[in-house]
Amino acid sequence: MRKPIIAGNWKMNKTAAECRELIAALAPKVKDATCDVVVCVPFTDIAAAAELCRGTNIAVGAQNVAWADCGAFTGEISAAMLVEAGAEYVVIGHSERRQYFGETDKTVNARLVQALKNGLSPIVCVGEMLADRESGKTDEVCRTQVTGAFENISAVDAEKTVIAYEPVWAIGTGKTATDEQANETIGHIRSVVCELYGKKVADGMRIQYGGSMNAKNVAGLMAQPEIDGGLIGGASLKADDFAIIVNAAK
Ligand code: PGA
Repeated sequence: MRKPIIAGNWKMNKTAAECRELIAALAPKVKDATCDVVVCVPFTDIAAAAELCRGTNIAVGAQNVAWADCGAFTGEISAAMLVEAGAEYVVIGHSERRQYFGETDKTVNARLVQALKNGLSPIVCVGEMLADRESGKTDEVCRTQVTGAFENISAVDAEKTVIAYEPVWAIGTGKTATDEQANETIGHIRSVVCELYGKKVADGMRIQYGGSMNAKNVAGLMAQPEIDGGLIGGASLKADDFAIIVNAAK
């Protein structure tokens, strides 16, 4: 049995003061959750979030990590900095990073190596664009992204990694993949993990769905056998909505 994991991806939203308010409102609403609960916040919110989440069942994550230990990488942030600030998780390869900031399967892989080396729990994002889905290339695109991300990653490290399947056309658009579409593609991703690492790792790996997941569609998505949770953007910015999603993930 895989324990579901619901992670909020706040993206570039909430100052540290706003972060404190949101977490203070959220914590009591999710205290009885049976899934893992994570909030992936902007870098400048991590310390405040970690302080407020101490003693709760909410873990804090970042939204990116550098591929080097330290050095001349202006604008990047190292895994050690994230860990010291209180992050336990990190999102890697989100489609917005791939689309707007030149992230590639190679850089995703390098960031993943660095996260694992420093004890961060990675959430690696994959997913097809609308044109890929319309031309029947969804499985191929996801296969390439998963294979690229996990190049030279050991089975022991793969086991510590969560994958988020996020069809790009469903992110922030209000267009969710149907329960069956999400389940089918996640099943395909699991089969790729099985080819790379064998059945035990594939069966144990948690694979989330992401893309306009909300309080209304969470039950249907979570009822699918392959879907082990969600990476939630917009709906994670409201304590009530995010709590409904968390509490629906059993
Ligand atoms: P959304 O974002 O829930 O707002 O669609 C999901 C994500 O990008 O992780």
